[in-house]
Amino acid sequence: MTSSTPSTPAAKAAPKDPWDLPDVSGLVVGVLGGTGDQGRGLAYRLAKAGQKVIIGSRAADRAQQAAEEIGHGVEGADNADCARRSDIVIVAVPWDGHAKTLESLREELAGKLVVDCVNPLGFDKKGAYALKPEEGSAAEQAAALLPDSRVAAAFHHLSAVLLQDTSLEEIDTDVMVLGEERADVELVQALAGRIPGMRGVFAGRLRNAHQVESLVANLISVNRRYKAHAGLRVTDI
Ligand SMILES: NC(=O)c1ccc[n+]([C@@H]2O[C@H](COP(=O)([O-])OP(=O)(O)OC[C@H]3O[C@@H](n4cnc5c(N)ncnc54)[C@H](OP(=O)(O)O)[C@@H]3O)[C@@H](O)[C@H]2O)c1
Repeated sequence: MTSSTPSTPAAKAAPKDPWDLPDVSGLVVGVLGGTGDQGRGLAYRLAKAGQKVIIGSRAADRAQQAAEEIGHGVEGADNADCARRSDIVIVAVPWDGHAKTLESLREELAGKLVVDCVNPLGFDKKGAYALKPEEGSAAEQAAALLPDSRVAAAFHHLSAVLLQDTSLEEIDTDVMVLGEERADVELVQALAGRIPGMRGVFAGRLRNAHQVESLVANLISVNRRYKAHAGLRVTDI
């Protein structure tokens, strides 16, 4: 183009298809607290879908025993080794042990994508209710404790009973995924999408994780009234 040629406005790039997600099939997924119901369920579903999964525990032998029971190539290790060997690390420990677990694994989790699924809940005679973490949410607590990791939040609304039910081929639910970096959110959406029936949906930044974590108290009420294992679907997308 010569200097006398009138310039044309740059063509606008086509908007990215939000369902065009990365290939995560080669990534190793670790699950801290993977000997529990939620961790076992996620490990089973992801490994069955072909993902390499390592479950973690405070005791390596407990993790190895649970991994053998889950099958599908799942391995067991202590939480530190699990974090070290994984690309994406799901945090599936109880809220009570959340801060202490993450603080103790800061080094092993540096540079990793950490996916928090912890729901800070209390229970009394009226049922489940949401706790209010000082940092705003469990996910924001994780981000504060792990400055060298990338933190996302997802997998809060799943039923561990359904995840572990080997008679079910599909898990009929959406997974709300929250995070600060689009690339990280898309990795987690893609991971959720590996499980038949499941769809990962972007649901905002970590400052909105509290509502997502708290909603589990409502789902527990639903489950108790209707004797169900309720999931969630986001409509019109
Ligand atoms: N269950 C569900 O349906 C469900 C659904 C969505 C999200 N979640 C969330 O997922 C997390 C795990 O739920 P879960 O039902 O699997 O819980 P869980 O069975 O009570 O605990 C999971 C594992 O965490 C480890 N653990 C227990 N106390 C700990 C502590 N103080 N510090 C560190 N590790 C500890 C234990 O493994 P080791 O003894 O082997 O270390 C245990 O097997 C919770 O935060 C929950 O809110 C659960």
